[in-house]
Amino acid sequence: MRLLVTGGAGFIGSNFVRAVVSLHPDYHICVLDKLTYAGNLENLAGLETSPRFRFIQGDICDPETVGEILKRGVDAVVNFAAESHVDRSILDASEFARTNITGTLNLLQGSRRAGVGRFLQISTDEVYGSLGPTGAFTEATPLAPNSPYAASKAAADLLVRSYHQTYGFPCLITRCSNNYGPYQFPEKLLPLLITNATAGVALPIYGDGLYTRDWIHVADHCAALDRALHLGRPGEIYNIGARQEKTNLEIARLVLRILGKDENLITFVADRPGHDRRYAIDPAKMETKLDWKPQIPFETGLRGTVEWYLRNPAWVENVRSGAYQTYYERMYQNRSRTLAEL
Ligand code: NAD
Ligand code: DAU
Repeated sequence: MRLLVTGGAGFIGSNFVRAVVSLHPDYHICVLDKLTYAGNLENLAGLETSPRFRFIQGDICDPETVGEILKRGVDAVVNFAAESHVDRSILDASEFARTNITGTLNLLQGSRRAGVGRFLQISTDEVYGSLGPTGAFTEATPLAPNSPYAASKAAADLLVRSYHQTYGFPCLITRCSNNYGPYQFPEKLLPLLITNATAGVALPIYGDGLYTRDWIHVADHCAALDRALHLGRPGEIYNIGARQEKTNLEIARLVLRILGKDENLITFVADRPGHDRRYAIDPAKMETKLDWKPQIPFETGLRGTVEWYLRNPAWVENVRSGAYQTYYERMYQNRSRTLAEL
């Protein structure tokens, strides 16, 4: 199978590419990524010499780039490319609208034109908005996004849905809860807590710290995506989650305990505007229809993640300083191909 993975140099995308490489040694993978601050070629280190792997630095909003890649033959598109951080969307939502909405539409248009056989849109539980103290999001929960980020992802989901309804285009959507694991950019809660605690710096906790997220290890998410890509029914939505709800305060305490650090590092700071109180996913459809189950218990996954960050201080330094652009120059630019040579 020839896969186009957009946003494959980001956190989940790069974990997915690695998972596909090991699960399907005969697949050809092309990663299209703009390499924004969140995209990092070190996440894909080691793959650059494989004849079955291609990396193209480019924008999913650019019809020419997307059209050229698709013209070379792509069986399936998996769209991870997005602006993904809620706090940034509150400061300025324009890139979120551009990449998450216009970019997704551009990919849909190009893919339909090129006769792509499957289009998997990677979405989020945030499109459902916030839950009260009980219950969980099902695929039938109405969309009620609260942040500009969530609104842009919901808009993309509706475009994907419309392509199935209007053109019978074989696309499907997955909506996952909060991911954690290796290669996550340290602006998101877990890597921020781990790297701050390691450095003995304050852990910023928004509001009262009792906001709840439903955590899943990125490897479990990627295994679910592999199932959805191969076995999911076009037109369907699949919720992905591991039934592991935790408050942010619980998470901060756990990280400090694992690292043997003092709880005094926890610092309550001003709340996020429009902060969703609670997310929880009901993954029953994934479990019953696609025979998938999460494998990694939260504490085990968290310990492994903490160890990964401790073993990779240079990665953290590099992504914070943008030094991975140098990696790109070193590993890719001297071997760069024109699109026509792909
Ligand atoms: P990320 O921010 O780590 O990675 C996003 C990637 O997209 C980066 O490599 C970036 O360079 C690339 N990108 C951004 N704009 C682009 C553009 N215009 N053209 C091409 N590439 C572009 O994000 P992530 O956490 O890995 O999330 C990946 C996807 O999964 C997103 O669509 C996100 O909405 C969704 N998601 C994330 C989570 C989570 O907990 N992180 C949970 C559910 C769903
Ligand atoms: O639910 C899936 C979503 O999870 C994805 O769609 C998003 O791309 C991803 O960023 C994530 O969104 P959240 O807003 O839940 O993740 P974040 O890591 O930003 O925050 C998690 C919780 O921690 C949230 O309640 C806000 C809180 N928080 C976050 C930061 C960065 C803090 O208390 N302090 C912080 O410094």
